[in-house]
Amino acid sequence: MKPKVYITRRIPEHIVKRINKTCEVRMWDHEDIPIPYEILEKEIEEIDGLLCLLTETIDDALIRKAKNLKIIANMAVGYNNIDINSATTHGIMVTNTPDVLTETTADLTFGLLMATARRLIEASDYLKSGEWKTWSPMQLTGLDIHGATLGIIGLGRIGEALVRRAKGFDMKVLYSNRSRKYEQEYELGINYTSLENLLLESDFVCVMVPYTSETKNLIDSEQLSLMKENAVLINTARGGIVNEIALYKALKYREIWGAGIDVFENEPVSLDHPLLTLPNVVTLPHIGSASIATRTKMANLAVTNLMTALQNEKPQNLLNDIYFIN
Ligand code: NAP
Ligand code: GLV
Repeated sequence: MKPKVYITRRIPEHIVKRINKTCEVRMWDHEDIPIPYEILEKEIEEIDGLLCLLTETIDDALIRKAKNLKIIANMAVGYNNIDINSATTHGIMVTNTPDVLTETTADLTFGLLMATARRLIEASDYLKSGEWKTWSPMQLTGLDIHGATLGIIGLGRIGEALVRRAKGFDMKVLYSNRSRKYEQEYELGINYTSLENLLLESDFVCVMVPYTSETKNLIDSEQLSLMKENAVLINTARGGIVNEIALYKALKYREIWGAGIDVFENEPVSLDHPLLTLPNVVTLPHIGSASIATRTKMANLAVTNLMTALQNEKPQNLLNDIYFIN
C-alpha cells in the first residue's frame, strides 16, 4: 500500500508530482486560506507524512490524533508552530528547510532596514498622493546606513548573511548570541557583546533569533528603553520575540526613531493593530523568504525531507532524533 501524504497548502504542481509517483497525496487546495484546524485534525488520523507551513499549529492534541504519522515536514526554517517535544514522544520526525532561504531572507532584512532608514514607502506614497510640490532641503530626510553600527541579535545563518551585506555598507557590526562565535568574529570582523550593550550602542538592531520560550518578549519596554533615540529596530524573525505594545509606545513617543517589521505575533496582523497607525513603521506581510526561486527550493526541500523519511532513511534536516534511537 502506498504511504498517505497530506499537504496543507497548494504548492507547485511539478513538486507535487515528485510525491504522487510513490504516495497517495491529498492537498488543501487553496492558495490563500489556511486549512482549518478541525479539517487537519481529521486528515492527520490516517496519514504517514505531513507537509505543512508555518501557518499551521501542530500541537500536542493534533499529534495525538495521528495513528501512523512518521514525518512532519515544515516548509520553513522556523518551527515554533510545531510541538517538537510531543512529536519526539510519539516517535515522529520533524524537519525544516534551512540554508536555502538564508540569502533571500538576509536580502529582505537589509532591504527593510534601508526602506525604514530612508523612508522609502512613505516617500513613494508622498509622490503618488500628489503631495510632492518641490525639492526641499529637509524633505523626507532619513538616516544614513553607511558607517552606522548594526547590532544583530542571533548570529545564526541569516545573521551571518546580514553581516556580509552590512560590511558592503561599511557598517560596524556588533552581535549578541546564546553562544559566542570566535571564528565568525575573526572571519567577518565583528564584535561580540551583551544584549544590553548591543542595544545601547547600535544605530540599527536586527532581531534574528528563533522564537522559543527563552526568546518570547526578548525585546520588551526595558530593552527598548536602552536603544538610542535615533535607532531603528528591524524584526524579520518572529512576532512574539518583540513585545508589540512596548514597541508601539517606544515608536509613538519617539523613544526610538523607527521600526521595520516583517513578522507579527498574530498573522495576518489585524488592520486595527496600533503599529499600523504609525508613520515611522514599515510593515510587511511575512515575506522574508518570498522569492520565486527560494520558495520553490523550500517546497522541494520539504518534499525531499518527507520522501526520505517515508523511505525509512534519515532526512537531511531532521530536528529530532527519535527515529534513530530506536
Ligand atoms: P539559526 O541559524 O538557527 O540562527 C539562530 C541564532 O539564534 C543562532 O545563532 C542561535 O545561537 C541564536 N539563538 C537561539 N536562541 C537564542 C537565545 N535564547 N538567545 C540568544 N541567541 C539565541 O536560524 P536562521 O536560519 O538564521 O533563522 C533564524 C530565524 O529567522 C528562524 O528561526 C525564523 O524564525 C526566522 N526567519 C524568518 C523569515 C521570514 O520570512 N521573515 C525567514 C526565515 C527565517 P546558537 O548558535 O547558540 O545556536
Ligand atoms: C519563515 O518565516 C521561515 O521560518 O522559514
